[in-house]
Amino acid sequence: MTVPLELKGVTRVHGRGAGEVHALRGIDLTVREGELVAVMGPSGSGKSSLLNVAGGLDTPTSGSVRVAGTDIARLGARERAAVRRRDVGFVFQDLNLVPALTAVENVALPLELDGVRPGAARADAEAALAEVGLSEAANRFPEDLSGGQQQRVAIARALVGRRRLVLADEPTGALDSVTGEAVMRLLRARVDAGAAGLLVTHDARYAAWADRTVHLRDGFVAGTDGGLGADLDELQGAGA
Ligand SMILES: Nc1ncnc2c1ncn2[C@@H]1O[C@H](COP(=O)(O)OP(=O)(O)O)[C@@H](O)[C@H]1O
Ligand SMILES: [Mg+2]
Repeated sequence: MTVPLELKGVTRVHGRGAGEVHALRGIDLTVREGELVAVMGPSGSGKSSLLNVAGGLDTPTSGSVRVAGTDIARLGARERAAVRRRDVGFVFQDLNLVPALTAVENVALPLELDGVRPGAARADAEAALAEVGLSEAANRFPEDLSGGQQQRVAIARALVGRRRLVLADEPTGALDSVTGEAVMRLLRARVDAGAAGLLVTHDARYAAWADRTVHLRDGFVAGTDGGLGADLDELQGAGA
């Protein structure tokens, strides 16, 4: 079975010359099916750069990024976009809903862009809205939805179809704690159903839903809590 996400030796340098910024400096990270990994770290430590590279929105300067076994860093832009639409769901703090489309049309959009026939795309979109408890709002426009409902539409859009990798960059950032918990429950449920998840958060309460937490500092993994990573560190610390 292929691993949903495997990064090896990933670096990302933004800009050139004197303005060069080393956003990622050699990241190794694997996220398996059924695993939710939280990413924490100070502002500017590379969290968003990591998510963008992991999901093919950006390419690494060096290193490999395997999504479901394919090194997307070696693909051309069109092929990379195809992998992204088929396999990767993104949830951003900035929701990016299309105001002129209803909730169900927003959710169906990535499927239609991927060539799924409209009837089938709509059926999958309705199922995804039902999964986030928003069936009754399917035909409303974003401006007629509350902030929490808009967030759930964005999550349904990230989960629609058979996305095996869900990437969320502070999806709870603008939400009250009740809605934030609801978002985490949805992410966790999809991961428990077999997806892999990578979640950037500033909040330890949300990171607690993850199987392990990776701490970034200046583009490096400065440490990992929980899961196998911590167990191995303990074993090594014990001289095993
Ligand atoms: N497109 C870009 N061009 C130039 N520098 C960037 C760009 N994106 C991010 N950076 C820089 O890379 C570093 C990491 O940024 P980012 O990944 O956004 O960190 P975080 O999400 O942890 O705040 C920062 O120094 C930031 O200013
Ligand atoms: Mg960021």
